[in-house]
Amino acid sequence: MSEQQPAQDRSQQPERKRILTGDRPTGRLHLGHYVGSIKKRVELQHSYDTSLIIADLHMLTTKPTPEDIGRIGENARAMVLDYLAAGINPDKVTIYLQSAIHAVYELNLIFEMLITVNRLTRVPSIKEMAKAANMSDEEMPFGLLGYPVLQAADILMPRAHLVPVGKDNESHVEVTREIARRFNGLYGEVFPIPDVLVGDVPTLVGTDGQAKMSKSLGNCIYLSDDEATVNKKVKKMYTDPNRISADVPGTVEGNPVFIYHDAFNPDTADVDDMKTRYRAGKVGDVEVKEKLAQAINSFLAPMRERYKEYEADNGFVDQVILDGTMRMQEVANATLKEVKTAMGLRSVMNAISRKAENRRKKLAKNS
Ligand code: TRP
Repeated sequence: MSEQQPAQDRSQQPERKRILTGDRPTGRLHLGHYVGSIKKRVELQHSYDTSLIIADLHMLTTKPTPEDIGRIGENARAMVLDYLAAGINPDKVTIYLQSAIHAVYELNLIFEMLITVNRLTRVPSIKEMAKAANMSDEEMPFGLLGYPVLQAADILMPRAHLVPVGKDNESHVEVTREIARRFNGLYGEVFPIPDVLVGDVPTLVGTDGQAKMSKSLGNCIYLSDDEATVNKKVKKMYTDPNRISADVPGTVEGNPVFIYHDAFNPDTADVDDMKTRYRAGKVGDVEVKEKLAQAINSFLAPMRERYKEYEADNGFVDQVILDGTMRMQEVANATLKEVKTAMGLRSVMNAISRKAENRRKKLAKNS
């Protein structure tokens, strides 16, 4: 239960609750990631013992080729840089590479026994991920069906209490909860039942007005975009298509430009004023967009400073990942040991070793 050593002994307060979350290293982080989850992670890193996973094994569920694997290092570095720029404190947070944690492969297999195939086929995001990877049902890898099981192994490895993730990951945390309950029920209370936490804007629309900001749709503003790029992307943003000139009354609801204003412009009075004028046909898209570009650029300004700082320190990000991975390695080994003890698997092998040793001793005495 809770008398084991704290998962991360770097924290002087063993009673602190733990967060485990992270992302697949498939590309740069964008504004959708930020409002969907990263913001919460940045806020909560002070009150929770936080670990961030670079989920490269999960990436293999849809991208297993040597070329894909060849890009992991570079993508991981870029993603961690994005985390740090967004305000994740590398002195506080454990950032680690999933594929380097031996114990997660083992815990994954153990957890595979605790959930049904039928349950996994009902996880909506799995079909979506298959579709996004252009896979037919026939082509669905076993490992993609098991995606939430592996994620449960990640989350329960440090015995996390809270998982701040994007909305698309909610169902995976639900599977994690089911596996944790099942494990505890069968073998004793080893795991907390973790809660999910989704950001204030669960799904941010794309700059093109499509439901979701997503790399594959090419409708993203990245945390690492420079000022000129942000200006260009905002200028091209999708707004109310019925509004052909500034004096036509426009629709604010569901309009991406105003959704972004609500998410990134702290001057709510001015935003309200623009909305009123927009509805009345008394403001041009140009003004609304210029102010939005300004708001996003000021929002990104402190991140740009941090990018500069961290990028200047060559190898720093690698050091952060190395330290974090070594720390998680120990946490993971300790949990796995406890899991096998609780299951009685360790005593099976221990008994075998004892009997073999007894025989050796006897033989040695008799010779
Ligand atoms: N499924 C997450 C994604 O969509 C990545 C991930 C893997 C994860 N393991 C996790 C997230 C554990 C939170 C907790 O990229």
